[in-house]
Amino acid sequence: MRLEPPKSILFVCLGNICRSPLAEGVFRDVLTTRGLEHRFRLDSAGTGGWHAGSAPDPRSIEIAARHGIDIAGQKARKVSPDDFSRFDLIFGMDRSNVADLKATAPQEARDRIHLFLEFAGERGREVPDPYYGGSEGFASIYRMIREASEAIATRLDGRVAASESGHASSTT
Ligand code: 4NP
Repeated sequence: MRLEPPKSILFVCLGNICRSPLAEGVFRDVLTTRGLEHRFRLDSAGTGGWHAGSAPDPRSIEIAARHGIDIAGQKARKVSPDDFSRFDLIFGMDRSNVADLKATAPQEARDRIHLFLEFAGERGREVPDPYYGGSEGFASIYRMIREASEAIATRLDGRVAASESGHASSTT
């Protein structure tokens, strides 16, 4: 039986210190719980490079830690041109992230770029920028990211399982 290569997913926000490192950590946790982590390669990046080299925002580290997820070792980086060929799926946290990604992506990579919550089935919803808000904003984006990650893991697992068994999937 032909095994699918790992799916690679890049999570993108503006600064790569609040939302996308949290999304990377939560999605990895969801995959690990389902025994699927070996099938996926995950990373995160920002459309802006101001925080490159920095650890995630302490509020993202804290909300993740409260749910047993350690994201403290991640380091911010800016999206690079290579990312558009290195990742199968690129998720922007809000519409401006998606617009910025589509504006810089080569034509052939544009259909790999999606609004994260929309790919999870929540049409038109965004993960709002929590940077200038309080800790309740981080609790709120944690919940959104957790629910979306569960939905996307189910969607992608269905597709991987279907293609491994030789049947086209209609789940995506
Ligand atoms: P993120 O949040 O895009 O979720 O990482 C932000 C982090 C930093 C800034 C804006 C948003 N900033 O303006 O520095």
